[in-house]
Amino acid sequence: MFKPIEWVNGKVRMLDQSRLPVKVSYITCNDYQKVAEGIKKLWIRGAPAIGIAAAMGVALGAQKIKAKNFDEFMRRLEPVFSAILSTRPTAVNIAWAIKRMRNLLLSKKTLGVEKLKTVLIEEAKKILKEDIEVNKTIGRYGEKLIKSGDTIITHCNAGALATGGYGTATGPMRTAVAEGKNIQVIADETRPVLQGARLTACELMNDKIPVTLITDNMAGAIMKNGEINLAIVGTDRVARNGDVANKIGTYSLAILCKEHKIPFYVAAPLSSIDFSIPSGEFIPIEERDSKEVTHIAGKRIAPLNVKVRNPAFDVTPAKYITAIITEKGVFKPKDLYKLQRQIQNPKH
Ligand code: MRU
Repeated sequence: MFKPIEWVNGKVRMLDQSRLPVKVSYITCNDYQKVAEGIKKLWIRGAPAIGIAAAMGVALGAQKIKAKNFDEFMRRLEPVFSAILSTRPTAVNIAWAIKRMRNLLLSKKTLGVEKLKTVLIEEAKKILKEDIEVNKTIGRYGEKLIKSGDTIITHCNAGALATGGYGTATGPMRTAVAEGKNIQVIADETRPVLQGARLTACELMNDKIPVTLITDNMAGAIMKNGEINLAIVGTDRVARNGDVANKIGTYSLAILCKEHKIPFYVAAPLSSIDFSIPSGEFIPIEERDSKEVTHIAGKRIAPLNVKVRNPAFDVTPAKYITAIITEKGVFKPKDLYKLQRQIQNPKH
């Protein structure tokens, strides 16, 4: 199993995904600034994985703080929170992790500063462990939507590398295979950063799940041939109405699925669901460096000074989504309110 991020001997170790699959190398972060750099530069990427990195970055930042009391400790932590929050705007998991760390501190303020530093490390490790369990549960719910013989299309990488180490969109695929189902996966290469080609194809091959790589513009023709039975993708943020932000190109894929009557599923841990926003219009979309579009593997492929757009994500309206697979079950977008109720009122 891939270990995209770990807490090792008081430091954060991340697998440098920007160099995969050509080079397997690790980066050790001694301070929160390095963790923030890693998130920005996509050494670590994928919504749940950057949520875990955010929590570990906070724990790391806290270790160096000298404070006489709780209030001073919190004050000195603020720059750590904001540096990490400002790395990438679309995935809600970063804000989710920081809120969880902050609330934990507030609930244990009487422990004293030194003990709180340990509490933060333990919580960050717990977030990582929980994420793997959550993904396995998503896998068990999602697996039921897959029949033996199915071919599944996916976009970007929502696998082990994008999470604590199991995968959201790949969770149902891994579980289906473990249950003895015979499946195939079509992986979109996912321009411009090629997460599908570099990461998803590599992961699935490692897991011995049959995978075929296509360029993004091939999906429609392959669907028209009747070669795809369902789509499963991950998400960076789900709004209250079921609109879903995910890697650029997800929207086009969802429309293609609708046209070809192919069910379109989104695998989403609760840490990626933002009940505070009513719809996808409120999701900030990260615009990345134009070089990601004009260059491939460091080589320029476009005219010098050409005007470029590079939104890293798009929003798929809820009407294109068949269902959202969470660790609490499978919900139609219009039924997300039931999930919200279930979380707010766990006894019902
Ligand atoms: O820019 P990235 O590589 O961080 O984008 C990742 C995605 O869009 C994933 O599909 C999403 O974060 C879900 S990961 C389980």
